[in-house]
Amino acid sequence: MSTERTLSIIKPDAVAKNVIGQILSRFENAGLRIVAAKMMHLSQEQAEGFYAEHKERPFFGDLVAFMTSGPVVVQVLEGEGAIAKNRDLMGATNPKEAESGTIRADFAETIDANAVHGSDSAASAEREIAYFFNDSEICPRG
Ligand code: TYD
Ligand code: MG
Repeated sequence: MSTERTLSIIKPDAVAKNVIGQILSRFENAGLRIVAAKMMHLSQEQAEGFYAEHKERPFFGDLVAFMTSGPVVVQVLEGEGAIAKNRDLMGATNPKEAESGTIRADFAETIDANAVHGSDSAASAEREIAYFFNDSEICPRG
């Protein structure tokens, strides 16, 4: 396992629930470092571009509407096996199927408002990090 970076988004439902800090703590407690972060309210275009891989799926319109419904917090997490570790911390896409103790089990109720996004592969992580951050906005802390 090597040091990796992954893109994480705290989605509008979790921001509205005021659990940003609790979610970030889970990353830190698992040994991941937050090496970039910003709060933003995604535009329609930004959300559509970010989720372009899903544009033919039936839920795409609702997903974009949800992701633009309020502010999000976007961050880059760095650490050993960060991509898989973040996916483990998040839990299954459908919170009803997520293992207890995961972020989605603890902070979300429905598949369409499921608290967090995390890159699913090294290729996705590279694209998604570059989608939101310049190199100068990422601060590795060895
Ligand atoms: P996906 O990439 O499959 O899940 P994950 O976020 O776990 O990588 O889907 C992206 C988002 O699309 C998902 O977080 C919530 C939404 N979505 C739905 O609303 N309905 C669905 O049936 C699926 C599969 C996803
Ligand atoms: Mg995904």
